[in-house]
Amino acid sequence: MVELAKRRGLVFPTAEIYGGVRATWDYGPLGYELKENVKQQWWRTMVQLRDEVVGMEQAILGPSQVWEASGHLANFSDPLVECAACHHRFREDHLREEQLGAEDAEGDLSCPHCGEQQFGDPRNFNLMFKTHSGPVEDDSSVVWMRPETAQGMFVDFATIQRASRKKPPFGIAQMGKSFRNEITPGNFIFRTREFEQMEMEYFVEPGTDEDWHQYWIDARLAWYVDLGIRPENLRIREHGDDELSHYAKRTVDVEYFFADTSLGWNELEGIANRGDFDLNAHSEASGANLDYFDQPNDERWTPFVIEPAAGATRATLAFLIDAHTVEQVPDAKGNLQERTVLKLDPRLAPIKVAVLPLSKKDELRPTAREVFDLLKVEWMCDYDETQSIGRRYRRHDEIGTPFCVTVDFDTIEDRAVTVRDRDTMEQVRVPIDELVSHLRDRLPR
Ligand code: GAP
Repeated sequence: MVELAKRRGLVFPTAEIYGGVRATWDYGPLGYELKENVKQQWWRTMVQLRDEVVGMEQAILGPSQVWEASGHLANFSDPLVECAACHHRFREDHLREEQLGAEDAEGDLSCPHCGEQQFGDPRNFNLMFKTHSGPVEDDSSVVWMRPETAQGMFVDFATIQRASRKKPPFGIAQMGKSFRNEITPGNFIFRTREFEQMEMEYFVEPGTDEDWHQYWIDARLAWYVDLGIRPENLRIREHGDDELSHYAKRTVDVEYFFADTSLGWNELEGIANRGDFDLNAHSEASGANLDYFDQPNDERWTPFVIEPAAGATRATLAFLIDAHTVEQVPDAKGNLQERTVLKLDPRLAPIKVAVLPLSKKDELRPTAREVFDLLKVEWMCDYDETQSIGRRYRRHDEIGTPFCVTVDFDTIEDRAVTVRDRDTMEQVRVPIDELVSHLRDRLPR
């Protein structure tokens, strides 16, 4: 997958010509489209199709007060151990899990780098990136890069609730970059220091929170299945008391089975019942009133919060892995050939339609361009006239393009094109006049 991602310009190391930066990745033309399609599907399901959820975008840099009140300055840390022999640093809980079978297992740890068993005591390492805003670097100019998008929805709760006139149950959603100075990032885009999240805070009346929690666990699982992840590769895992975050009443993870990787079953998304922890904390720290006035009952109460918190970049990896298929298919002479195909849901595919003139000859070009111009206003399309038609089909199979439209010499006479389906490889002849509606029926939004 890493090789395919680089060769096809999906995802590759950042600043590679300078040697790159550990576990930091750039998204090329196709990777960007794929990731944005994942986000767009999330936004469509979580915001556009719901009348009780609204969106927002918060600044990435925030003042210390936000992160003091949220508990991140005190609690958002991982246990770090350093090898006394080679000075490499590791996450203690990950080493225990890898070497002793559980995060809290007792026993001596060996350094994965040099093999020595000389670790000092673990210390808590805060994961937030700190910087300064403005030309003076002193304590008063300290700002933090957000480690989660969630706090924006709590800090802006009152303003958004008033402006949108929503009443609980209602949600505020946000997607965008978050930053964590992970001790051991890795596994391609699974765990990086700069990543994207898709989070929604759903504000409900206390007492209804447990039912809403279950509602969102079911809804989020269904989202991945609807977008093509095989159900047998998904499961729900309950957090034990010892792993609950400082704010959480109950959390479950949606886990995905990352086949053929060291990740195995691992977290895709966390769905937490945060109770009234955050609104209370920010209300106390800022003095702002962050409760809800329930007019019919003439009561004030602080909403409880259910939070489906997904990783956009991590979900992109899961969609890629689940779609990646190598299969044997007969060629024109009936001989079996291997083909690699990304069986992405068409809604996620970076390119929806490829327009392929059968040859580079001048006679085909005007009609092929006409077809491309017709389709490009509807979907992300590609125009490709180089190499044999078979190779071009294979190229588009490999990046998951659902349809290839071929313009041949008959097209000039009969004004019809051949539409090839990525998965079945079936080809049908469709008049150019009917092409947009033919594809629209097969390319859901
Ligand atoms: N607001 C709650 C929260 O941020 P989280 O479980 O820490 O919860 C939510 O993060 C999701 O964000 C994770 O399930 C994962 O998909 C993604 N995520 C977290 N850290 C990440 C990292 N270092 N790299 C990539 N994705 C990450």
